[in-house]
Amino acid sequence: MFSPEHNRYILLQNPTDHWTLDKKALLVVGCLILPITMFCATYMILFGIYEKLLYPKQSLSSFSSSIVLEKDLHRASVYGGYERRNNYTEIQRTPHQALDVSIFRLVCYYNFPSNAQSLQVNDIDPNLCTHLNLAFGSVINNSIYLSDADLPYVRQAVKLKAVNKNLKVLISIGGAYNDRGFPEMVLNHTNRKTFIKSVIGFAKTYGIDGVDLDWEFPGEEPVADKHQRQHFTQLLHELRRAVARHTNMALLITLAVAAPVQIVDTSYDVSYVNDYVDYINLMSYDYHHYTRLTPFTGINSPLYASSLEKYYLATMNINYSSHYWNSLGMDKSKIVIGLPTYGHTFRLMNPRNEGPYAPASGVGKLGTLGFASYPQVCSFLLSNRITPVFDMETLSPYASKYYEWVSFDDEQSLTYKAEFVRNNNFGGAMIYCLNMDDFKGACKMGSGRKFPLVSAVRQALDGQAGA
Ligand SMILES: *[C@@H]1O[C@H](CO)[C@@H](O)[C@H](O)[C@H]1NC(C)=O
Ligand SMILES: *[C@@H]1O[C@H](CO)[C@@H](O)[C@H](O)[C@H]1NC(C)=O
Ligand SMILES: *[C@@H]1O[C@H](CO)[C@@H](O)[C@H](O)[C@H]1NC(C)=O
Repeated sequence: MFSPEHNRYILLQNPTDHWTLDKKALLVVGCLILPITMFCATYMILFGIYEKLLYPKQSLSSFSSSIVLEKDLHRASVYGGYERRNNYTEIQRTPHQALDVSIFRLVCYYNFPSNAQSLQVNDIDPNLCTHLNLAFGSVINNSIYLSDADLPYVRQAVKLKAVNKNLKVLISIGGAYNDRGFPEMVLNHTNRKTFIKSVIGFAKTYGIDGVDLDWEFPGEEPVADKHQRQHFTQLLHELRRAVARHTNMALLITLAVAAPVQIVDTSYDVSYVNDYVDYINLMSYDYHHYTRLTPFTGINSPLYASSLEKYYLATMNINYSSHYWNSLGMDKSKIVIGLPTYGHTFRLMNPRNEGPYAPASGVGKLGTLGFASYPQVCSFLLSNRITPVFDMETLSPYASKYYEWVSFDDEQSLTYKAEFVRNNNFGGAMIYCLNMDDFKGACKMGSGRKFPLVSAVRQALDGQAGA
């Protein structure tokens, strides 16, 4: 009898069928799959080589240390995280009014050099900035701490004051590892007193003009202690009183503070901050950076919102943040607006979708971990003959080539942003950081001078920069 099993047996045993099948398979492999595979492989190899050629030779020299980068990365991801947990508030757009002021600060952060290629203290023009923030010291055992490697740079930097007697040199305390000492230090009066004593001792020993506290950020989630903001305010109060008692020295007290609305609300008692500090350095950059929560391109430091942005996203710009701080009680003259010399890179999901808010799959290859210095951006653009797009809403340029996308600042965008500081009567501009500007004057894209970005800001602040 013919059972189904029997049928199959015959089929499998049929030598003709077998042969036909193999021949067909061979034909398919030989004529279709093989050429396609070879074509794809060749294409991928060529594309890989092409992509390699896109990127200029890079070094880490513009980043003084991985600790500095880690701190910046931390801030960028905290900013990005808050973008998700938004609390929608509508903002309205009206043209801003121009006011006149004659004195502005130009506060420049300088990261201690990590090798011979880094920017050295003696290559800093003592007349470029009004304030130099040496970055970073830390808090260890409730006291200010600088490594033995960094202390000689403090001495060198203070010597710049011999050339420009109006230059103020401050020590900036904080960082990814470095601000881990803050929570314990602010906790009780004894610890705070130890810290304040150490700061005043340090200032006397080295002849510095001030201290800049860069804790990112008091009361940041997830945190056990809900009183960090209060304790931080207490520290500022006690520090101000201690400085006032030392009548023979005028120590500046400044803070580096967050820009996004929700961190401001969590971390600072703004009206007290206004009473106790000389001024704040508003970290109005890293508004957009690739994180898994924010997988799209965006402008690092937009001056205004773009028309694409609504609700919380419309608050993520310099204009909104600076006015927000002012609305909470910070004097305009004490708000120093942060401007970056670095850009943020992204890897596009689709090279043909390449505006702001285009889907991104990660950080770009240019630079390090999504941070690219101005010289790196400059050589990327020039060696690939890329003409950046200048976005007239955010007053910032961006550029892309295949999968690489970068938002950055140039002389033009920083001129607009510094004019905003001047026209709105804010207290000045802060630069993060000198190390990532083109300190060698190697970029042939703009004026070709050394420190083209900081110089553009200085020029736009009217050449009247003073204390
Ligand atoms: C700048 O911010 C202020 C305060 O939030 C707002 O009133 C103004 O419309 C903003 N300007 C622009 C051009 O968006
Ligand atoms: C901090 O204190 C601990 C314990 O007293 C000590 O071992 C450590 O060396 C101190 N660190 C510094 C930098 O002073
Ligand atoms: C302050 O906190 C430290 C821990 O950082 C603790 O050892 C000390 O006893 C506390 N002092 C007071 C007076 O509570």
